[in-house]
Amino acid sequence: MKTITLIKGDGIGPEITDAVVKIIAAAGVQIDWDVQTAGADVIEKEGVPLPQRVIDSVKRNKVALKSPVTTPIGKGFRSVNVQLRKDLDLYSNLRPCYNLPNVKTRYDNVDIVVVRENTEDLYAGIERQIDEDTAESIKRITRSASERIAQFAFDYAVKNNRKLVHVVTKANICKLSDGLFLESARKIAAKYPQIQFKEILVDNCCMQLVQNPNQFDVLLLPNLYGDIVSDLCAGLIGGLGIAQGANIGTDYAVFEPVHGSAPDIAGQNKANPTAMLMSAIEMLKYIGETEAAENIKNALFKTLEAGIKTADLGGNSTCTEFTDNIISHL
Ligand code: NAI
Repeated sequence: MKTITLIKGDGIGPEITDAVVKIIAAAGVQIDWDVQTAGADVIEKEGVPLPQRVIDSVKRNKVALKSPVTTPIGKGFRSVNVQLRKDLDLYSNLRPCYNLPNVKTRYDNVDIVVVRENTEDLYAGIERQIDEDTAESIKRITRSASERIAQFAFDYAVKNNRKLVHVVTKANICKLSDGLFLESARKIAAKYPQIQFKEILVDNCCMQLVQNPNQFDVLLLPNLYGDIVSDLCAGLIGGLGIAQGANIGTDYAVFEPVHGSAPDIAGQNKANPTAMLMSAIEMLKYIGETEAAENIKNALFKTLEAGIKTADLGGNSTCTEFTDNIISHL
């Protein structure tokens, strides 16, 4: 039996985690979950939101499934997500975005993979207060991190039969930092003549995504633009409730939905577990449980096709009803 770290998080985290664990068990996959808590509630008991035991658990098990964790704005501890990605060197954030059955969206046939650099850029949180009225954040980009994420994006494209990679920057303004990211992408792209390579500025990219998303295939972005653009892409396919994600490094992988802890609907049995489930499906594929992954995906699609949906997708099912319906198709 495979042992996998399960990080429960807070807000809607526990609800969607329970739903997904139930579905995976119903699919007959035996997983020994090494349950780890993190986030706001843990601070009270252990003094920090991400205790070392969580990191040690992922290091031991190599793979984790994680639900969202609240990051208070403006003060307090560093984000659990940022710290986890940094401590485990989960340098690539992979966010595939494609239409799901019976989820009404503005465009059909959206099929975009966002590859986001996950360890540096403005996200590194290197900030200082210069004086009472001035603060600054450092946008740090390195050649090594930029080249390895570009390498990841092109390798992903080849393995997954993708044809086109867009590198997305603001290199016209951030000439040095984004310039370095762009230069690194160009260097790696030259090794993959079979993959078409295009360059686009992030503002134009957002406009083009909203007007004609079908022109895009793989997007390669530095950390902050990747964060923003992946939420935009989630919006194209029906919202955050269905957008999956994975953080992958050389040694470890942490699978988690794109969305946050949704405090506005926490504890109300309203959360859509699909994003967490889609992330778990990718995790199952990653550990070699390909057949179970396919079965769960088919069951999810049958539930959506039958019009069973949570409120975020215009339906009236609770998280529990939605989950039980998926299980009934397994
Ligand atoms: P959010 O993603 O939690 O919520 C944005 C909107 O989408 C809300 O209206 C929410 O109800 C809805 N939503 C999100 N997931 C949903 C789901 N599964 N089903 C139905 N509706 C869903 O973003 P927000 O409000 O900006 O952030 C809340 C907290 O989450 C913050 O503390 C933030 O730092 C944290 N966060 C954590 C992440 C992580 O742990 N990976 C990622 C993003 C945010």
